[in-house]
Order: sequence, then structure tokens, then C-alpha cells
Amino acid sequence: MATQAPITSPVESAGQPQVRPEGEFRFPPGLKRNLPLYLFRRFFRPGNPILLFEHLVKSFGSVSHYKLGGSNIVFINDPELIREILVTQASSFIKERTQNRMKILLGEGLITSEGEFHMRQRRIAAPAFHRQRIQKYAEMMAERAAAMRATWKPGQTFDMSAVMMELTLEIVARTLFATDVTAAIREINDEVNVIMRLYNYLIALPKAENYLRWPIPGLIRFRKARARLDAQVYRMIAERRAANEDRGDLFSMLLAGRDEGEGTGPATRGAPATGMSDRQLRDEVITIFLAGYETVANALTWTWYLLSENPAAAERMQREVDDVLQGKLPTLEDLPRLRTTEMVFAESMRLYPPAWAMGRQSTQIVELGPYRLPAGTYFFFSQYILQRSEKFYPEPLRFDPERFTPEQKAARPRFAYFPFGGGSRQCIGEAFAWMEGVLILATLAQRWRFRMVPGQAVDVQPKITLRPKYPMVMVAEERTAESARLEM
Ligand code: HEM
Repeated sequence: MATQAPITSPVESAGQPQVRPEGEFRFPPGLKRNLPLYLFRRFFRPGNPILLFEHLVKSFGSVSHYKLGGSNIVFINDPELIREILVTQASSFIKERTQNRMKILLGEGLITSEGEFHMRQRRIAAPAFHRQRIQKYAEMMAERAAAMRATWKPGQTFDMSAVMMELTLEIVARTLFATDVTAAIREINDEVNVIMRLYNYLIALPKAENYLRWPIPGLIRFRKARARLDAQVYRMIAERRAANEDRGDLFSMLLAGRDEGEGTGPATRGAPATGMSDRQLRDEVITIFLAGYETVANALTWTWYLLSENPAAAERMQREVDDVLQGKLPTLEDLPRLRTTEMVFAESMRLYPPAWAMGRQSTQIVELGPYRLPAGTYFFFSQYILQRSEKFYPEPLRFDPERFTPEQKAARPRFAYFPFGGGSRQCIGEAFAWMEGVLILATLAQRWRFRMVPGQAVDVQPKITLRPKYPMVMVAEERTAESARLEM
């Protein structure tokens, strides 16, 4: 396993926060040199921004400052200050520039939009993610996982990451578009794969949208795939508008969505009544599609890896699955009793949070703890780093699902664990993701246990989501019908 040293710093435990006055502002301690040279020398070769953040916490404590070009950047590793940014003072912040780069694919969807326009879209989309609505998908999720587990042979090896991507992609496609679009889903999937290969690099570049027009083969492929993806989605929108029926999928909800509040932003242009325009629907469909599968797939891949490294925890989860389900496929009603499985999933997202860092930019002067920072400052915080802090998680690198009993959860500050963010931009798919994660874990664990093929390197690759850097080749071992109490 890729072990990182615990990152509680001597500065953090020393107590008094340091303040660097500069004119009317009070900056946190930090790097004296402008970042690029420093970054190049110390962190560029590994190509892993997590190393920079770890270094900042180790050297300067829970709040640190550096400059990149003319911009002030503050890295925060403190749950109370994260709450200030995401909740208490949220109106003083917008999502930062990296979100803008995502617009080359996501347009003005829920993830990338801001302000009144975002609030309107969120109001329209919210009913589609309401707990009662998503409960309908539970049966399909377990069924898809069961169909997949039936295809494996004992002793078969596969890259767990690829397998989990396939499963979660199919699930999000079916929830979005009901079941009758399998061929279209396959095409969408092909386009998404072409796009994602380049997208991860593109969004790391400033002003990526400018390079997109360059006649470079990779970029031409990206543009063409995006155009074909758009054409698919627009065709579906036209068909659905014409059919005008509720098929019980998310797409129907988004089509039927109406905003009861005031709305004057660009979304209203061309929109029938106060619903979404075609362009807006396209942006939301692609946003939900992309946000909804890679995150869950990564969470599940890391969970199987952690279970294979921690056989006692795997055994406990398996026992719970057998006791609760008695060989039947899990249903919505079983979820409250699959507590251990849920705690396993929670602990896995503590150590390997799919969304590993977040950022915001201040729109006005902000006071945060003892600091006073100018408008335009960028603030970053990382689930990966804070959720491995010794201060909130003793022996932070140990995999211990018991950290997520109700008592232990209540003893920690709210933002010591934030895999789904928080405040008004909290993940709209959170309930969906918990339900899907637990149902897939339970369904697959009923029949199989997975072991890492020995001798593989394991490390993180922080792209848009926290992917495994190398394939995770696992061998599937079939559990006996007796031990699994499975109706085979
Ligand atoms: C384990 C799985 C997931 C994780 C860890 C995750 C994480 C997150 C995080 C951290 C944010 C907030 C980003 C920010 O404030 O800067 C977010 C937003 C969002 N997520 Fe998820 N997500 C997951 C699954 C899903 C699923 C299944 C869907 C949809 C089916 C989804 C759709 C969205 C959308 C639309 C937003 C934007 C919400 C807004 O700004 O109003 N996510 N997600």
C-alpha cells in the first residue's frame, strides 16, 4: 500500500497560529518564494499536487499561504475554517478557476455554474435526487451487480478499476435514461472514453478552451467526440420532448422540472415555461453522467483494495451480508441493517476520497480566524489530507471502519470528513452514491471475495477524481454456497 507519513505538523501542535501582516491584510505563514520555481524543483517530477499540500501542512500548520504569479493561494487544513468557507461565509466565495476549465465539457451544468443561475438549476434538479425518487433505483442497482457477478469464473483475474467503471457507468446511464437506450449508452461511453483521456490533461492547463481549436490530432479527436456526444444527447432530448411521458428516470424529472422561484439568468432563454432549455438539459445530463460514475467506481475500487489488505474487516462485512440477506439480493429495506458494509464504504472514502481536493475564490475581503485576506484569494482544502490527520483519526493510515459508529462520528467536527463537500454546493448525488456503493458491495461480497495479485505497485493518481495510478489486478475467489448461505 502507498503509505504516507501522518501529516500532523509540529507547527499545528505548537498552538498559536502565526500571522504575517502586510498592509491592511494578515496572511498565514507560508512559502517565501513564488511557487513555480519551487514547485518545479521539489514537486513537479512526481507530478502529484498532494505532495505540495502535504509539504505545506508539515511546514506551516493548518493554514498556509503561497503565491502563484500574482495570485494569493491559501491552503486550509482545519474543519472549522472549511465550514466558514463552505457554509458560514459561503456568499463571499465562488468556485475557483479550475471549475471554469471544466466548462469545455460540462458547459453551464450544476458543477460549473454560479450564483442565481446555479440556484435555479439546483431547484429544478433537486426533486430528481430526492430520497423517495432515487429509492426506485435500488432494485436496478442490485440487479446490475448480480448480472455482473454471474459472468465471473473462480480464479479469474481482472483490473478492478475497469470493472467498477463498467458497472457504475451502466447504472448511471440506466437511471438517467431508463433502459431502452443500451446502444446509445455504448456510443456515449465510447465518446466519453475518448474525451476523458484528454480531458484530465486539458483541465490542468490555464485557458484550456483556447487550445481546443488547435489542429492537433488529440484535440481534433476530443472535439469530434464532444460533437458526437452532444448530437446523441440532443437527439434524446428531442425524442423525449416529443414523447412527453414520464419514464421514471432522472431524464424525465429534469425535462419536467419547473422552477417555482424567480429566474432571469441565461437558462430562461429558449426555455419552455420555466423549465430548462435544450442547451441547459444537455449540460445537466452530461454533468450528472460524468459526476455520477467515475467517483463511485473509484470509491468501490479502493474499497475492494482495502478489504483485500484487511481480511478481518472483510470477514466482518461478509458475515453481516450473509446474516442480513440470507442469500437474497439486497433491497432498499435491507440498507439500514447493512451498517458494517456502510462503515466499510465510509472508511474507504476517508482514506481514498474520490473528490480529493476542493477550491473556492473569495469575491470580497474575508476574515478567517486571525487572518484577513484580499478579494480574489484562492482557497484550497483537501479531503485526502484532512481525513488522514492524526488529530481527528488516531493511527490515520489504519483501515478501521469502527471510526464510523454513530458515537465516533458525533465526536468529530462536521468537516473532519467531507467526501461530498458541504453547504449549498454539497453533492446532489450523495444519497444516490451511498445507496449504490452499499448495494454493490453487498451483492458482490455475497458470492465473491477479491485478492490483490501479489507484487503490484499501488499508488494514488490525483486527477479530477482520485484514481489508482496502476491497474488493480485482483483475483476473484468464489465463496462456497454454504459459507455464503447463497441461493445459487
Ligand atoms: C462517491 C461518490 C461521489 C463523491 C465522492 C462526490 C463528491 C462530490 C463533491 C465533493 C461535490 C462538491 C464539489 C464542490 O463543492 O466544489 C460534488 C458535487 C456534485 N455531485 Fe457528486 N460525488 C459523488 C457521486 C455523485 C453522483 C452519483 C452524482 C449524480 C448521480 C453526483 C452529482 C454531483 C453534482 C451534480 C454536483 C454539483 C452540485 C452543485 O454544485 O449543486 N455526484 N460531488
